[in-house]
Amino acid sequence: MKIFSGSSNKPLAEKIAKELNLRLSPVDIHIFPDLERRIRILDKVVDQDTVVVQSTSTPTDQNYMELFFIIDALKRSGAKSVSAVVPYLGYQRQDHIFRDGEAVSIDVIIKNIESLGVDRIIVFDVHSVKTPELFKIPVFHLSALPVFGDFVRKYYNDSILISPDAGGIRRVKILAGLIKMPFAVITKDRDLETGEVTAEKIEGLPKNKKIKRAIIVDDMISSGKTIIVAAEMLRKNKIDEVFVFVTHAIFSEEAPKLLQNSVVEKVIVTDAVFIPKSKYFPKLKVLSIAKTIADQIKKF
Ligand code: R5P
Repeated sequence: MKIFSGSSNKPLAEKIAKELNLRLSPVDIHIFPDLERRIRILDKVVDQDTVVVQSTSTPTDQNYMELFFIIDALKRSGAKSVSAVVPYLGYQRQDHIFRDGEAVSIDVIIKNIESLGVDRIIVFDVHSVKTPELFKIPVFHLSALPVFGDFVRKYYNDSILISPDAGGIRRVKILAGLIKMPFAVITKDRDLETGEVTAEKIEGLPKNKKIKRAIIVDDMISSGKTIIVAAEMLRKNKIDEVFVFVTHAIFSEEAPKLLQNSVVEKVIVTDAVFIPKSKYFPKLKVLSIAKTIADQIKKF
């Protein structure tokens, strides 16, 4: 087996390779003056099973093009199989038509990936449980929840798990089942024009019982607004400490600054998305999903 990486998250690809007792095979990514890219794989792959790792986080379009070109290069070079590992699947939030006239972006992305002849894909904590069903090729939908569960059990036992919106109930229920912890749900609203987030109420908080610690669980942080609004609501409800566990640290705009200056105690994320040093902040902790991905690849 040979493993390749695009440029979006090489540290994760290196860790996955190490777990598999492999080294990353070299890829030459040449950037032309007009920013077009030329991809060349620098290893022989004839009759080999191959893996390509590329998170399609910001800059999403560029990272997708790299992924497409690496897959194409592997196919043209005679690879026996190509498994795509896309720990963060960009455009997944546009998974249906919210308003008349919109495109279903993730459907377009999936059609492109499949048209290149990929044999299977590994994705991680996708936004909608329906997304894997949109693929025609085999999809392995992995989750950071077991990694989070171990960490919560070790350091934050005796907490309540919180979904910051109705869309995340399934995720929180799974974690609650894994570590036998109670959960509650915040109902939130986001204005599609302005992006403003408002929290309406919390359902499921035990009455007449002091809760010391709440743990918000979500799939991604982009602007950080969902987490901050939820955390403030929890503090208003007399919960002393709010911790956050999120798989995808997209961290757009001012998210790191907002989170550092918020009522949140700690933000625990995974390395599904590469976080540049400029986006690190003291309250941030990063857990690795490399082993989870490598364990799945070993089964192929
Ligand atoms: C929304 O339904 C998602 O699960 C996340 O809660 C959301 O995408 C986070 O975005 P932001 O950080 O911009 O509020």
